[in-house]
Amino acid sequence: MKSQLSEQQALIPPDENRRMFDGIARRYDLLNTIISLGRDHVWRREAVDRLQVRAGGQYVDAGCGTGALSLALARRCPAGALTVHGLDFSAAMLQEGGRRITQAGLAASITLQQGDALALPFANGSMDGVISGFVLRNLSNRPAALVEWCRVLRPGGRCVVLELAVPESWLMRGGYRIFTRLVVPGLAWLLSQRQAYVYLLDSIQAFPAPAVVCQWFEQAGFTDVQTTPLTFGSVRIYQGTKGG
Ligand SMILES: C[S@@+](CC[C@H](N)C(=O)[O-])C[C@H]1O[C@@H](n2cnc3c(N)ncnc32)[C@H](O)[C@@H]1O
Repeated sequence: MKSQLSEQQALIPPDENRRMFDGIARRYDLLNTIISLGRDHVWRREAVDRLQVRAGGQYVDAGCGTGALSLALARRCPAGALTVHGLDFSAAMLQEGGRRITQAGLAASITLQQGDALALPFANGSMDGVISGFVLRNLSNRPAALVEWCRVLRPGGRCVVLELAVPESWLMRGGYRIFTRLVVPGLAWLLSQRQAYVYLLDSIQAFPAPAVVCQWFEQAGFTDVQTTPLTFGSVRIYQGTKGG
């Protein structure tokens, strides 16, 4: 039986991570829907609810990928009434995102740019909210990412993070293991993306417990830190408000 990797062992270097997402960009949305059993839209809507979006606001989607969260956020207001700054280091993911955003008629609300989620190109205190979906697990320095996301927020601004997790209840863990060890690898093999999905499963297994992630939020300068399990704990929302 395969032994579990440590948090550091499960990480892959940023360049390799970027190349991996460049490679799966065209199939990413379809795989997302299949692997989440169609729940990913619900998870994103829940995450956006926590951000308390308002017209005129400035928001960052850190690691926006193909723009699914940016779109869910932008749809909360008429086109052009708020600004979402979608940032990702994969050019191919951004290209897919640009296509989707134009198709949705929301180009007036969302700007996309290539960049590093660990070094955002925005001034201190300039943003009303930061949202990030399924990215934290990919980052080489997760506590530093939260410090950076806190830096760009105005006092009172919210940070909401959506991340995959291993369910805590042993009963749910059984079902989760069957799904992730049989169904997901089968799908990944069919779609010739085996390496990406071995990484996906290893990185979820090795991701620290919710209490540790909440501690990172607090150490970064967030107050009112909360975590909520979704879909039997296979996904978690983390949220915090910038103090001060
Ligand atoms: C699993 S995808 C999530 C995409 C999107 N947020 C969503 O909800 O579907 C992870 C994304 O994070 C991006 N990413 C990983 N590390 C990054 C970094 N250091 N800076 C910017 N983007 C990064 C990848 O390129 C990829 O698009």
